[in-house]
Amino acid sequence: MSEKIRVGVIGAGWISEMAHLPAWSKLADIVEIVAVSDLNVERAESAAAKFGVPMAVSDFRQLLEIDQIDAVSVCTPPVAHSDVTIAALEAGKHVVCEKPMAIDLPSAEAMVAASEKTGKKLAIQFQSRFHPAAQALKKMIEDGDLGDIYYANAVYHRRRGIPGWGTFQSRAHNGGGALIDVGVHALDMALWLSGHPKPVAVFGSAYSKFGKRTDIYGALPAEKSQEFDVDDSAFAMIKFANGATFNLECSWALNIDNERQKVILAGERGGAELHPLRVFKDSPEMLIDIVPSKLKDVDFPTMHAMAIEDFVRAIKEDCDPLVTAKQALMVSQIVDAVYRSQEDGGMVALTE
Ligand SMILES: NC(=O)c1ccc[n+]([C@@H]2O[C@H](COP(=O)([O-])OP(=O)(O)OC[C@H]3O[C@@H](n4cnc5c(N)ncnc54)[C@H](O)[C@@H]3O)[C@@H](O)[C@H]2O)c1
Repeated sequence: MSEKIRVGVIGAGWISEMAHLPAWSKLADIVEIVAVSDLNVERAESAAAKFGVPMAVSDFRQLLEIDQIDAVSVCTPPVAHSDVTIAALEAGKHVVCEKPMAIDLPSAEAMVAASEKTGKKLAIQFQSRFHPAAQALKKMIEDGDLGDIYYANAVYHRRRGIPGWGTFQSRAHNGGGALIDVGVHALDMALWLSGHPKPVAVFGSAYSKFGKRTDIYGALPAEKSQEFDVDDSAFAMIKFANGATFNLECSWALNIDNERQKVILAGERGGAELHPLRVFKDSPEMLIDIVPSKLKDVDFPTMHAMAIEDFVRAIKEDCDPLVTAKQALMVSQIVDAVYRSQEDGGMVALTE
């Protein structure tokens, strides 16, 4: 493909303006942003004006009718991810869709099926995989430095940080709360680093302790707190066919010391944790802690830009993006199982 890739951006809210539109704009020599769509057309117009995009529409279907568009970013709330993604794939567009992949497991499965049927690329925006420390650790793991990984602790905690904007507070729009919003990042990282072992059982809990309260630090505005019906923390144990066990813990609000994002992995030959990256080895004489130096740090928009660049590479070279839809589906399967475990009070077995 020698021509520029022509792009549409669907949803012009926070992530669109903070990450996707800047990322596409950075690739101006090989990409042209043709149109932006948002249900709120003023938002679409404002984003289009800011990023020099010639067209702003309210209905995403109007954007999908533009033949010259090759690829779209889906930056809507989760409730629309599957409908918009499937319509885009069926309209012949490649899709990079924001996390969480979908509001529920059947919707995520339908997205994978649509991508397979149409042959169009579908990437999910788990941008943390592109952090140089994560990339370095992945390479060490692939080189066998940790041996077989049999334990992971995937953590994404906020002491107080329930999103007060958008539709994050509503199960109907978001599919859940902290687990599906931030827990998925930690889970995806642990799964990717350990090579996506097959999950076989999940035992978990999800709590809703803060969203409705007005007497806490960081309380939601009244109208958001009234509609709050999702989890603000979740905890789970996941068992895998290869014998590995992962602990997953996440929160938007939890009475702990502070925000904490970590993935800890332990294998037979070594262990590691992110962020910052540290690797734990030993010899008969000593325990050895490896701390990288001169490893580049990158910020949130840069990781998104790297993910978008990888998606462009996948289109141009007709290969898989780093975050495939099938891999993201595994995250959705586990999230679904945690919520089912909470509802049923027992362990959820995962079958084919
Ligand atoms: N990858 C990350 O780290 C990260 C960070 C923040 C948000 N996100 C994800 O990005 C998505 C959007 O989050 P946000 O914070 O930008 O939300 P937001 O509420 O700021 O923006 C969403 C926008 O989508 C628009 N919209 C809704 N339905 C639409 C439709 N059918 N067609 C076109 N536009 C539509 C809304 O009007 C709104 O402007 C969510 O899935 C969220 O989880 C990902």
